[in-house]
Amino acid sequence: MSVSLLAQNLHGSEIIKIAGEINELKRQGQNIANLTIGDFDSNIYPIPDQLKKGIIEAYGDNHTNYPPADGMLNLRESVSAFLKSRYELDYAPNHILVSGGSRPLIYSIYKAIVDPGDRVIFPTPSWNNNHYCDLTCAEAIIVETRAEHNFMPTADEIRPHIKGAALLALCSPLNPTGTMFSKKDLEEICDLVIAENKTRKAGEKPLYILYDQIYSQLTFGHHEHFNPVSLRPELKDVVIFVDGASKCFASTGVRVGWGFGPAHVINHMKAIVGHIGAWAPKAEQVAMAKFLKNDVDVDSYLTKLKGNIQNSLTTLYDGFQQLKSEGFNVDAIEPMGAIYLTVKVDYSGKTTPDGKVLKTATDINFYLIKEAKVAFVPFSAFGTGEDVNWFRVSVGASTLQDIVALIPRIKGALGKLK
Ligand SMILES: Cc1ncc(COP(=O)(O)O)c(C=O)c1O
Repeated sequence: MSVSLLAQNLHGSEIIKIAGEINELKRQGQNIANLTIGDFDSNIYPIPDQLKKGIIEAYGDNHTNYPPADGMLNLRESVSAFLKSRYELDYAPNHILVSGGSRPLIYSIYKAIVDPGDRVIFPTPSWNNNHYCDLTCAEAIIVETRAEHNFMPTADEIRPHIKGAALLALCSPLNPTGTMFSKKDLEEICDLVIAENKTRKAGEKPLYILYDQIYSQLTFGHHEHFNPVSLRPELKDVVIFVDGASKCFASTGVRVGWGFGPAHVINHMKAIVGHIGAWAPKAEQVAMAKFLKNDVDVDSYLTKLKGNIQNSLTTLYDGFQQLKSEGFNVDAIEPMGAIYLTVKVDYSGKTTPDGKVLKTATDINFYLIKEAKVAFVPFSAFGTGEDVNWFRVSVGASTLQDIVALIPRIKGALGKLK
């Protein structure tokens, strides 16, 4: 039976396909370390206690009806204060939109800005921009990034595509790489957007920036998070931020996201989120409003979460560096933020013990799943070519002990390749 062209052409998640393979092996009794999902195991990383209590209390108080379309005012006030204290950003509650996690914000930004056929520029690897382009019938303009530049895009790479584009979608710290913009690189991109917008006539749609900083509270060591508006305040009218609780409070299932930006865009996003009914549940909003105000609890939760995630990432990074120093064809980029490590496993063209030649990153991944009992996600799931032998490793669903144990298994599996 025929369905819409859009439905026919929409691709499912590549990561879910890998999950299917892992589940099949698990059904056969195998124990696979699943480092594929951009999520947390809630038994290893539970949500903040005070947030959990607040949600239960809010249900006890019968906060179970529709929330306001743009989110509870007290939550938007808490977010406003959070943005001021954590980023020095000034956004009043009417410049903030709450939704059921941050995905509806991204969709509504695309819908509020992009007309069918408009050009949307985004780097690869990156998370889901291809799907949002499909959903809005946008022309996807893909900027391929380089390992030598931590897979972050540069102004020089974006420049050839910028004339007349409608949206530039950026993310830092980046899913899938766990790397971040340097101040200089982001400044150069901001200046490019400012210069492009100066060439547009009054009344013409400007080039907007979607700035996804959902991992910005999860940064490590000396790595500092930068945003376009703090660096170039004149961009405030064209930058729409995506943010929320999913990652920094390990609350992916709680579904509270917040976006902020110019009121003329936020108001349209509010109408779109309202029509699809993608609000955050009211009780969760009530609890999040209270939790965000409590700096002591927020800080102690973040310190612990960041410490544990950084420990896992660094252990894995050191393990890969050790394998590299032993002559294995692997590499890793220093972890900077988020819950991801970028690793290279460059074994295409090699033959497995049962005589199969590994041709693509997907082949290498499935070999590691079967032989080392560990699953990563090839960057091809984030829009790169199949010849790119780099992978995302997510540590949110594994204990440190699991991570320590998998390095020898990887070493054993790679050692069997000819
Ligand atoms: C960069 C980025 N933005 C947004 C999201 C979506 O978050 P949420 O679960 O709040 O919808 C994710 C989830 O993986 C992400 O990695």
